[in-house]
Amino acid sequence: MVGICSFFKNNSAQIPYENQYQLRGMAVLQKFQGKGIGNIILNYGEKLLKNMSIDIVWCNAREAAVNFYKKNGYQIIGDAFNIKDIGIHHAMFKKLDS
Ligand SMILES: CC(C)(COP(=O)(O)OP(=O)(O)OC[C@H]1O[C@@H](n2cnc3c(N)ncnc32)[C@H](O)[C@@H]1OP(=O)(O)O)[C@@H](O)C(=O)NCCC(=O)NCCS
Repeated sequence: MVGICSFFKNNSAQIPYENQYQLRGMAVLQKFQGKGIGNIILNYGEKLLKNMSIDIVWCNAREAAVNFYKKNGYQIIGDAFNIKDIGIHHAMFKKLDS
């Protein structure tokens, strides 16, 4: 296994849609980063959720990963916040039918 992501049925109070999933644990082994594997895993997961008629995927993105999510169509919502021992994060979301 070189990469992973997981999706949990969990709504964000910041996003006004009924059917939401939270993306968690998005990661690709360092040696395999930058080869398009993150894109493939994320797109595949989003496709599965779309087939389940889910409206929104959201996540708490580390600052270093914000551009990865932006390139995948996610946008920042709300203010940045700090998670102890990990650093600055931004809530980000994507509407799946867009
Ligand atoms: C973030 C992460 C999952 C991306 O996976 P990846 O396989 O390296 O990403 P890809 O190669 O599929 O890159 C997809 C696109 O995002 C861009 N990208 C990837 N990581 C990036 C980063 N950290 N900063 C800016 N852009 C990034 C790539 O340039 C690429 O753009 P392109 O499609 O225009 O070429 C991976 O770097 C990682 O595991 N990082 C450490 C853990 C982490 O931060 N996880 C996110 C927690 S919120």
